[in-house]
Amino acid sequence: MIHNERVLVTGGAGFIGTGLARAFAEEAARWVVVDSLLPQVHGQDATPDLPSGVELVRGDVRDVDLLGSVVRDLVPDVVIHLAAETGTGQSLDLPRRHADVNVTGTAALMEALDTTMSLPRRVVLTSSRAVYGEGAWCDSQGRTRTPPGRSPEMLERGEWDYPGLTSLASRAGTTPAAPCNVYGATKLAQEHMLSAWTIARGVSLGAARLQNVYGPGQSPINPYTGITTLFFRLAWQGKSIPVYEDGKIIRDFVLIDDVVRAVGEVARSDQACLVDVGSGVASSIHDAAREIARIAGAPEPTVTGQFRLGDVRSAHVDMEPSQWVLAGTPATGLRSGLTALGEWMRERADA
Ligand SMILES: NC(=O)c1ccc[n+]([C@@H]2O[C@H](COP(=O)([O-])OP(=O)(O)OC[C@H]3O[C@@H](n4cnc5c(N)ncnc54)[C@H](O)[C@@H]3O)[C@@H](O)[C@H]2O)c1
Repeated sequence: MIHNERVLVTGGAGFIGTGLARAFAEEAARWVVVDSLLPQVHGQDATPDLPSGVELVRGDVRDVDLLGSVVRDLVPDVVIHLAAETGTGQSLDLPRRHADVNVTGTAALMEALDTTMSLPRRVVLTSSRAVYGEGAWCDSQGRTRTPPGRSPEMLERGEWDYPGLTSLASRAGTTPAAPCNVYGATKLAQEHMLSAWTIARGVSLGAARLQNVYGPGQSPINPYTGITTLFFRLAWQGKSIPVYEDGKIIRDFVLIDDVVRAVGEVARSDQACLVDVGSGVASSIHDAAREIARIAGAPEPTVTGQFRLGDVRSAHVDMEPSQWVLAGTPATGLRSGLTALGEWMRERADA
C-alpha cells in the first residue's frame, strides 16, 4: 500500500527521509514529516529538500504532546520511524544524547500513537547493521565464533583482525545481535521496544537493518556520518584520503536509491519482518577510497594505521533471505553509485 494512505515520517527531512518522500509522497493521501532539523545534519539555516505537498512539522520526536497532536490530526496508516542520532563514534562520547533521542524518542512515539483511537496498519523502523557489532566469524574448522568488540589494547597493538578467524556475512534472525557502540545498542533497543509494542497493540512491524547507506542527498556537513561524502570532500580538494587501520576494514555500501526501494517494499507489506538491507557485497574501505580518488582525480589514498574506538572490523550482509525487499532488482554497483555521489557533490560545490 502507501498508495492513498496517510503516512507519518519521523526524521523525514534527513537523507533517507527525503529520498522516501521523493519516491512515494505523491502517491500517499498525506505525507507528514516531524523533524527537529538537527543543526549537525542540516546546518543552521536548514532548507530540507522535500517535494511540494509534503507537510513538515518542525519538532522533536521526544515531544509527546507535539507528536500526539500530529497523530490525532493525521491518524496515520503507516509510520516510518527514522528520527535518530546516528553518530556511531560520537555515541561513545555522547551516550546520553543518543540514548535520549533514540530510546526515549521511540517511547514517545508509542505513547503518541496510543492517543488516537485508530492505530496504524504498519510501523517501519530503520534499524542498523550496528546491532550486529562484530557479527559472526568462522574458525579454521568451520565453526562459527562471535568474538567481542576489539579492545583499545588490541587496536593500539595494530591487531586489527581476530587471529585465525574469517568474517561471515550477517543474516537477520541468525546472526546474534551484540552491538559494539552505544548507537548500535540504542538501535537494538528500538527494535525490541517497537516489537513489544506492536505485538501488544496488534500493529504489524517491519524492521530493516540498513548497512552503510551512501549517495546523493547525504548530509555533506555532518562529520559523524557518511564516510564516502567525507572521502569525496578530501579527494575533490586534491588530498590523499587517509584510510584507517590497514585499509582492510570491510563494509557493505548500499546506494540510497536501493534503500528507498527496499524501505518502500517494507512499508507496503503487512508481513511482520526483520530484514537486512545492503548490497550483499563486501568492500574494503581502501577499495572504496581508491575508487573515489580515481573519480575525483586525487592522489592514491594513504593507509594510516589510525583507528576509531567502537568501529567494527567487518560488516556485510547476505542479501539472499531479504531479496524481496529489492523487488527482484539487483543492488547498484559501488562504482556507479560513487560516480553518482561524486557528480552530486561537484554540482553542489559549483552551485
Ligand atoms: N544512513 C545510514 O547509513 C544508516 C544506516 C543504518 C541505519 N540508519 C537509520 O536510518 C535513519 C535515518 O538515517 P539518515 O541516514 O537519513 O540520517 P539523517 O541524519 O540524514 O536523518 C535523520 C533525521 O532525523 C532528524 N532528527 C534527529 N534528532 C531528532 C529529534 N530529536 N527529533 C526529530 N528529528 C530528529 C534529523 O534532523 C534528520 O533530519 C536513522 O534512524 C538511522 O539510524 C541509517
